[in-house]
Amino acid sequence: MLILWVAVVLLAAAVFFKALSSPISKLPGPWHTKFTGLFLKYSEFLATRRLFIHALHKKYGPIVRLAPNEVSFTSLDAIREIYASGGSGYDKTEYYDLFRQFGIKTMFSTLDKHGHSQRKRELADRYAMTNILRDKHLASIRDSAQSFVSKCTRTTSIDVYVFLHCYALDGVSNFMFSPAGLKSLDRPEDFALMEELTYHQSLQKNLLHYYLPQLAPYFPSFLLPRRSPMTDDYVHTMANQQSPDQHSLITRLVREESPLDRMQAAAECKDHMAAGIDTTGDGLCFLMWELSQERSMYFQDRLHQELRDTSPETPLDQMPYLDAVIKEGLRLFPPIPMSFPRYVPQGGRTIDGHFVPQGTIVSCQPYSVHRLHEDVFPDPERFNPDRWMEEKGLAERNRLFFAFATGGRGCTGRNLAMIEMKILLQAVYSRFQTMVAPDMQGCMDIDDQIISSRPKDQTCKLIFKERESVSS
Ligand code: HEM
Repeated sequence: MLILWVAVVLLAAAVFFKALSSPISKLPGPWHTKFTGLFLKYSEFLATRRLFIHALHKKYGPIVRLAPNEVSFTSLDAIREIYASGGSGYDKTEYYDLFRQFGIKTMFSTLDKHGHSQRKRELADRYAMTNILRDKHLASIRDSAQSFVSKCTRTTSIDVYVFLHCYALDGVSNFMFSPAGLKSLDRPEDFALMEELTYHQSLQKNLLHYYLPQLAPYFPSFLLPRRSPMTDDYVHTMANQQSPDQHSLITRLVREESPLDRMQAAAECKDHMAAGIDTTGDGLCFLMWELSQERSMYFQDRLHQELRDTSPETPLDQMPYLDAVIKEGLRLFPPIPMSFPRYVPQGGRTIDGHFVPQGTIVSCQPYSVHRLHEDVFPDPERFNPDRWMEEKGLAERNRLFFAFATGGRGCTGRNLAMIEMKILLQAVYSRFQTMVAPDMQGCMDIDDQIISSRPKDQTCKLIFKERESVSS
């Protein structure tokens, strides 16, 4: 018995000594995070990780120890070092294994730099602005925007959450599989795919699989992560379609000399479909909700004026206020607001002036980066697109704009997302005023998912009223 006690005491002393001698223990943070990451994990299961980290940054500053081997940062130096040093920054952690599709690694879920850059080479040109701006792609997005508007103006109170998800799904699927993309705004069978991809409760189930991989095969069926059989079938069919448009993503992935087999191509496309629906859909939803508030009518009117005064032929990048409104929406409600975890490379690195040993998990989260630099974003909780119109400080604001991440592993779909958002807002706010519907009961708080977020009650009811200048 005595031997057992001695062993326990020695073990505890070793853990204690190891924790206190690590350079991470010298960083700011609550005392318990020197010894355990349990508080962090608890907050993850409660879906409050983002807020837990944000509160710690507010208390301890731009560097916070979250666990004995995990640190969060908010400074520009840290963002550059972690996500952009050497081009694409540090390698991803195994957390991204959760994003494999059909059990296969995609570009997003490839952890190491080398594998990632090889995959990226295969498809990056499809997401270049020159390809997104092709007439065929633009016409298809504009058609979807018109379908969205006609849906929303048919009745008085309309749930835009639903139709914005349809819009985003139709946009990304047409881009990838043209001419066989989805039309979920118009066809009930395609609408079912939007529902399958959108309505799920899978955060805790995914976390259980991540933290207890050895037990995962024995989990009962109600603990299995969400399935999406209709989407899987659709993606497989698309990966094998006979003559897709030459500028679509799938054409590039299955071309004769492509190193990807059909299964890998299907997995890659399914990933982009998932990446493109909630992000663009929820980003637009939070933004339209905010624009529809009484307090934001001035911004809505200013946006309408710009859209009314520009001809339909004006290129989308020549509407500065439209750009400012979208950026401010993504600043305040980043669709992926949570940490993007990375491993410190071999030998350790100095981040924000502090040495961090190799293998430590480090990250920054857009939610905090966009709110904790009050010198760059004064009154940060306030929605104020005008801040992006001021010449002074614009470079600093752009440098700290982190909604799409940064570096070689930043968002590949950024150009597509921006164009989709611009076209939709142009179609709506050039003609209509939107207001919150009287029967809107849902909560629009940011609700965290595995790394993305969505409006808590997944509903957002608005009224569309035609502007007098348009109807007269
Ligand atoms: C407003 C809309 C969007 C936002 C805010 C957004 C944000 C992001 C962020 C923050 C990342 C990096 C995440 C990380 O490192 O953990 C990312 C990666 C990615 N996004 Fe987006 N995204 C959006 C729309 C899209 C769309 C429309 C697509 C494609 C159709 C897309 C495809 C991707 C892909 C493929 C990656 C992985 C990039 C890589 O690993 O190299 N995203 N996105």
